Amino acid sequence: MSGNKTFTIIKPTAVKNGYTGNILAIISEAGFKIVALKLVRLPFKGAEEFYKVHKDKPFYKDLCIFMSSGPIVAAILEKENAIEEYRKLIGATNPEKAKEGTIRKMFATSMQQNAVHGSDSDENAIIESNFFFSGIEMV
Ligand code: CMP
Repeated sequence: MSGNKTFTIIKPTAVKNGYTGNILAIISEAGFKIVALKLVRLPFKGAEEFYKVHKDKPFYKDLCIFMSSGPIVAAILEKENAIEEYRKLIGATNPEKAKEGTIRKMFATSMQQNAVHGSDSDENAIIESNFFFSGIEMV
């Protein structure tokens, strides 16, 4: 059975452009409960660690430079069937392929600067949540 939590990041360009409030409102209106939330700046090494599954991809280094280029908002979200529901809400990784009404369609500017990250499995949601939040930061 699928779990009820996912992890998300609002990426540097979306934060810089002032979309944090709009994106969090869309997330809440879609029925997700925010159970952890913080504004942080990832060091380059932290971005390398977070995205290490992509370390052999040609876009890895640029992605890590981008993700450490400015503040990001990290959050843990709760809803039934959270992984799938959230991936539907944010749309395709490539914003050109994202459906109308999805967060990436509305706020992304490129594949790399695609507004938000969303976990792709229950296992990764736990790993990613624990990367950013300690136990007392999750309500
Ligand atoms: P995200 O959901 O954060 O997970 C991995 C990220 O890698 C993805 O969103 C994109 O930002 C980035 N990414 C994936 N594929 C490409 C690509 N072909 N070119 C550039 N960036 C990519």
